[in-house]
Amino acid sequence: MPAHIFIATSLDGFIARPDGDIDWLTPPPDVIEIAQGEDYGYDAFMASVDAIVMGRHSFEKVLSFGAWPYSDKPVIVLSSQPLRIDPTLAATVSQLGGDPRVVCEELARRGINELYVDGGLTAQRFLSAGMVDRVIITRVPVLLGRGIPLFGMVPHDIRLTHVRTQAFESGMVQTEYRVQR
Ligand SMILES: NC(=O)c1ccc[n+]([C@@H]2O[C@H](COP(=O)([O-])OP(=O)(O)OC[C@H]3O[C@@H](n4cnc5c(N)ncnc54)[C@H](OP(=O)(O)O)[C@@H]3O)[C@@H](O)[C@H]2O)c1
Repeated sequence: MPAHIFIATSLDGFIARPDGDIDWLTPPPDVIEIAQGEDYGYDAFMASVDAIVMGRHSFEKVLSFGAWPYSDKPVIVLSSQPLRIDPTLAATVSQLGGDPRVVCEELARRGINELYVDGGLTAQRFLSAGMVDRVIITRVPVLLGRGIPLFGMVPHDIRLTHVRTQAFESGMVQTEYRVQR
């Protein structure tokens, strides 16, 4: 099953502040003006995936937004503990856990072909298990100094092939890699 990471990082490689805050992803007014509604390929990417698998921390962050942003797209939340899923989300949100290979097998059984992998620890575990095909990183031109990193320890070198890099007028730089098998 092709699995993809689509994520934004600070220039120094963080996906969130130490407390999980992602306020820095919201551009300042002058950049919003320049960006003119640019979504950096997000909508097209979302339309291309069948489901989103995300870690518990990311799920809790999304819940804090108030409005559920994923419409009827299936979302699988990974956790090692029982989660309370609000009944209003029960039709599309489910929980799994364990080895990413086993998670992918289960999702394939559910008919999921293209998978969006979201969350730092979750991305790291899927990469380490060899379950990620494509990594798309949008770098935001800000240094945070500290925070939650996108990447961490790996059990062995993971080589990637550069596919493309696109610079946007807003200062965002998006790079796509294929993970070598
Ligand atoms: N910049 C961006 O584009 C972006 C994108 C996504 C998220 N974020 C931010 O990143 C932060 C969250 O990232 P994160 O690295 O802290 O964590 P995360 O990957 O969202 O969640 C980690 C948790 O997920 C569970 N988990 C992951 N893989 C598992 C597996 N295979 N089996 C069982 N449980 C598994 C564990 O939960 P348990 O502890 O319950 O076992 C683990 O503690 C949030 O602040 C979010 O807002 C930013």
